[in-house]
Amino acid sequence: MNLRKMLDGCSCVLLVLGIAIAGVNSQLDSLSFISIDCGLPPNSTSIDVDTKLTYVSDDQFIDTGVNYRIASTYATNTLGKQYLTVRSFPNGTRNCYTLKSLAAGSKYLVRAVSMYGNYDNLNKPPIFDIHLGVNYWDTANITSADAAYVSEIITVASSSYLQVCLINKDLGTPFISLIDLRPLEKSIYQDANSTQSLVSFGRLNLGGSNVR
Ligand SMILES: *[C@@H]1O[C@H](CO)[C@@H](O)[C@H](O)[C@H]1NC(C)=O
Ligand SMILES: *[C@@H]1O[C@H](CO)[C@@H](O)[C@H](O)[C@H]1NC(C)=O
Ligand SMILES: *[C@@H]1O[C@H](CO)[C@@H](O)[C@H](O)[C@H]1NC(C)=O
Ligand SMILES: *[C@@H]1O[C@H](CO)[C@@H](O)[C@H](O)[C@H]1NC(C)=O
Repeated sequence: MNLRKMLDGCSCVLLVLGIAIAGVNSQLDSLSFISIDCGLPPNSTSIDVDTKLTYVSDDQFIDTGVNYRIASTYATNTLGKQYLTVRSFPNGTRNCYTLKSLAAGSKYLVRAVSMYGNYDNLNKPPIFDIHLGVNYWDTANITSADAAYVSEIITVASSSYLQVCLINKDLGTPFISLIDLRPLEKSIYQDANSTQSLVSFGRLNLGGSNVR
């Protein structure tokens, strides 16, 4: 009994130490997830009502772009908090987020979601490309203001970071609402390996509040 208590106490201390060490210079949360609410003020967070996951500001992941709130018409009570702000990229053809602290050789699901919400008051949703690093991933053809455009890719990281890049095609200003990174077991999605990524169920166009 006493021994077990002691051991429990030990593993607890180790766990706390582990988290403390992982916390230094890491962009990963305790589940090794990265959840980014683009356009939030630096160092602030939001909570996803469905998953209860904490989304962090995109400030530590990118140096370019301008933050906006979506138009109040679209900021309904049921809309996920991550959709209330966006970061938009009026300058440069290529603007990239860098997701660090990854394990080279590990498999990840990366999700980029854009909900327009007429944030720029132009009533003109753009079309832009999304690249993973230097590789073409998807074309975000945003066709309505209140639908979230979801791009998903499964990839094996060749180094300790991945870049999600928005590419201006002269068809409107690229913007983004949220980015998710989730580690996957090596054994699933075998077609995603070190030589090729898998653009999955990639081109969904869903109501903003329904995206998990
Ligand atoms: C955000 O937090 C970092 C680290 O604690 C700090 O260096 C930085 O000044 C903060 N930025 C703002 C805008 O508060
Ligand atoms: C975009 O470029 C223009 C002209 O160089 C500059 O005035 C503006 O501050 C830039 N905006 C951003 C967000 O970098
Ligand atoms: C974008 O979507 C619209 C409506 O579905 C379609 O007519 C148009 O060809 C698409 N544009 C591109 C560049 O994919
Ligand atoms: C990755 O998967 C593809 C298709 O399944 C296969 O042709 C390729 O050889 C694999 N690459 C490696 C490094 O296993």
